[in-house]
Amino acid sequence: MGDANKGKKIFVQRCAQCHTVEAGGKHKTGPNLSGLVGRQTGQAPGYVYTDANKAKGITWNTETLDVYLTNPKKYIPGTKMVFAGLKKKNERADLIAYLEESTK
Ligand code: HEM
Repeated sequence: MGDANKGKKIFVQRCAQCHTVEAGGKHKTGPNLSGLVGRQTGQAPGYVYTDANKAKGITWNTETLDVYLTNPKKYIPGTKMVFAGLKKKNERADLIAYLEESTK
């Protein structure tokens, strides 16, 4: 189980330039992530995704986020998300714990 407090710091440093998490938050370069966990790919209302992201068709959960965030372009070839990936498993676990809490 990850540490959401540590995950928040990682989010601020690595993700927040492109994503907001709170309900009704604005889309930046990337979609607002509110409601992410338990939802299919490409469903943030009003955000224009690539076909690749929309068509992936998996549900975002602990396992799928872990694979995606290790190497986004490998999991979703053709994504426009420019992010190399978080290689440390414990950092991904912390970040995902934060996402599970903050995107509810
Ligand atoms: C898409 C998470 C960093 C730009 C996504 C999605 C997730 C995500 C889960 C898919 C959303 C969905 O299917 O509804 C994260 C996390 C990050 C991160 C946790 C930090 C570790 C970034 C950064 C950028 C970015 C730094 C910009 C430089 C985007 C864009 C998309 C996206 C443009 C849409 C992709 C597409 O339509 O192909 N992100 N992201 N993300 N993200 Fe990120």
